[in-house]
Amino acid sequence: MKVLILGSKGMLGADLMSVFSEYEPTGVDKEEVDITDESAVKAVIERVEPTVVINATGYTNVDGSETKEGFEMATKINGLAVGMLADLCEKKGVTLVHFSTDYVFDGRKKGEYKEADEPAPINRYGESKFIGEQLLQQKSTKYYLIRTSWLFGKHGGNFVSKMLELAGKGETLKVVNDQVGKPTWTMDLAESVLNLLIEARPFGIYHLVNEDAVSWYDFAHEIFEMTGVKAEVAPIGSEEARRAARRPRNSVLASAKFPLLRSHKEALQNYISTL
Ligand SMILES: NC(=O)c1ccc[n+]([C@@H]2O[C@H](COP(=O)([O-])OP(=O)(O)OC[C@H]3O[C@@H](n4cnc5c(N)ncnc54)[C@H](OP(=O)(O)O)[C@@H]3O)[C@@H](O)[C@H]2O)c1
Repeated sequence: MKVLILGSKGMLGADLMSVFSEYEPTGVDKEEVDITDESAVKAVIERVEPTVVINATGYTNVDGSETKEGFEMATKINGLAVGMLADLCEKKGVTLVHFSTDYVFDGRKKGEYKEADEPAPINRYGESKFIGEQLLQQKSTKYYLIRTSWLFGKHGGNFVSKMLELAGKGETLKVVNDQVGKPTWTMDLAESVLNLLIEARPFGIYHLVNEDAVSWYDFAHEIFEMTGVKAEVAPIGSEEARRAARRPRNSVLASAKFPLLRSHKEALQNYISTL
C-alpha cells in the first residue's frame, strides 16, 4: 500500500500520518499542495504514485460557512475539489478515502442515521460536504466515503480542548443539551480507516464513530469528571447558544457495515492520558 495523505497537518491528518507510519505515507498540507489547485494535486499524485489517497483536508468552520465568502471557500474545498480529486484518482485506478460528516443530515430522524439514509443538510457547511459526497460518488468507483462526527484529537482545536481552556477562566460554561451525537477520537478513526483498507472492505459509504451517543452538555460533564478539572456547567438550548449555523438535533450515526468502535468514554480516557 503506497499512501498519500492530503491535509496531513490537520487534526485527523496528523493522526492518520502516525497510524499509517509503517507504510511510510507521504503527507502534504495546504502550503505544499492546495487541494483546489488541480495541477498541484495532479503533480503530487504523479510524483508519489500512490495506491491510496486519503483526503483529510477540509474547510471545517461550520459557522464561518454561513457567510458568502465562507460558503464559497467551503464549496471549493469540501465540494468541487473532491470531485476533481475523484476524477484524477479514478483515471489512475487509485483508491480514494474521503471524510464527510453527521451534518449532512437534518437531525429529524427518530433513531440513528445509517449509511443508506438520505442527506438533507440544514446548514451551509453540511451543504458543501454533501456536494463533495455527490461528486465523489458520481466520479469514482474505488472510494471509501467515511462519515464521522464530533472529532477530538491532539492536533487541532476541538470541544474537549475548548472546555478545558474555558474552565480555566472560572466562568459558568453554558453548553447545549438538545443536540446529541457520538464524539469520536481521531486516533480510533484513523485505526479504523487502516483496518478498512487492510481488510479490503467493499467500496462505499461507512459511518465510523466511537459508540454511545451523548449531548454536548453530558459530554462536557464527562470531560470534567475524567480530568478532575473543576467547572460549573449549565445546560442551554440551541436557540440560546445563538450560533450562526443551525445544527441537527440528532447527529447520531449508526455504523451498520463495520465492527463497532469502542465507547467514546474509553476513547476520551485514553486521549486524556496522552495529553
Ligand atoms: N472536526 C470534526 O468534528 C469533524 C466531524 C466530521 C467530519 N469531519 C471531516 O473530517 C475531515 C478532517 O477534519 P479535521 O477536524 O481534521 O480538520 P482540520 O483540523 O481543520 O484539518 C484540515 C486540514 O486541511 C487543510 N486545508 C484546508 N484548506 C485546504 C486546501 N485548500 N488545500 C489543502 N489543505 C487544506 C487545513 O490546513 P489549515 O489549517 O492551514 O487551513 C488542515 O491542515 C474534514 O473533511 C472534515 O470535514 C470533521
